[in-house]
Amino acid sequence: MEDGALRPRSLEDYVGQKKLKEKFHIYLGAAKSRGEALDHVLLYGPPGLGKTTLAHIIAYELGVGIRITSGPAIEKPGDLAAILTNSLEEGDVLFIDEIHRLGRVAEEHLYPAMEDFKIDIVLGQGPAARTIRLDLPRFTLVGATTRPGLITGPMLSRFGIIEHLEFYSEEELAQGVARDADLLGFKVAPEAALEIGRRARGTMRIAKRLLRRVRDYAEVAGDAVVNLNRTEHSLTELGIDGIGLDRRDRAILTSLIEKFAGGPVGLETLATAVGEDKTTLEEVYEPFLIQRGLLKRTPRGRVATDRAYHHLGYPLPTGGQQELFRTE
Ligand code: ADE
Repeated sequence: MEDGALRPRSLEDYVGQKKLKEKFHIYLGAAKSRGEALDHVLLYGPPGLGKTTLAHIIAYELGVGIRITSGPAIEKPGDLAAILTNSLEEGDVLFIDEIHRLGRVAEEHLYPAMEDFKIDIVLGQGPAARTIRLDLPRFTLVGATTRPGLITGPMLSRFGIIEHLEFYSEEELAQGVARDADLLGFKVAPEAALEIGRRARGTMRIAKRLLRRVRDYAEVAGDAVVNLNRTEHSLTELGIDGIGLDRRDRAILTSLIEKFAGGPVGLETLATAVGEDKTTLEEVYEPFLIQRGLLKRTPRGRVATDRAYHHLGYPLPTGGQQELFRTE
């Protein structure tokens, strides 16, 4: 089954994000009762929390169509014009993933489309070029981003609804896992679902991925039900430890502790030491390590916390500079 088929269609089926769901109940209900398109929506938060899923749900709940594209896919203003003029119907949702990666020129063409539902198209070239203004159907732009800080002020101000997605609790992830198992037609013991939730880094996409891997192990072993034992064993086999760190996460912390005495060390130096690209280290690995209190960003560089030493089984260093940066 494709991921799309497992996606919850309605707000009711969407697990977790309680506050966000309550707000969308109101926003969607109000837009529907007025018979208007919903205001433009910006969803932001770490990857894998269900921003795309929520965009589909918005369209489903409004009973309208959805067109999907992404910031990097829109290179020229013409790309944007083609999407806006060819395929959108009144009230439809246009979903732009990674909207922070939209080019400056395309972004400027999007402003009148968002505000006045009009788009300027340039015909011809050179002195003979002229601009025509086309009317668009009233649509709802749903933008998603992992980097809200990169959205320009003028763009931000054109969204009527700006919402943040939160990491999921273990219980919510377990609920999502149980839901998928149900749809895929197999059984997961509640404590096994919770264990997957515990190791899924607060991220629904990861929980769903781990479920599939654990299911592989259970199937090969001939288990009728995915149980806790098999879950623990297969996740450990996959290199995912009890709090969800994978081999890369542990290599980063180990390097910080062993090569740099726990820090502080600059991002670039740490990235080189672990053979990782600087941006990936900063955007993919660090947020989770920081969220779990294992790593800190300080003005002088990255620091491993006491919790990191403890988790990886290192004795705490005594004295030394890094004590200055440790609060735990
Ligand atoms: N898939 C992605 N996000 C989800 C969520 N919050 N609940 C259920 N399935 C999802």
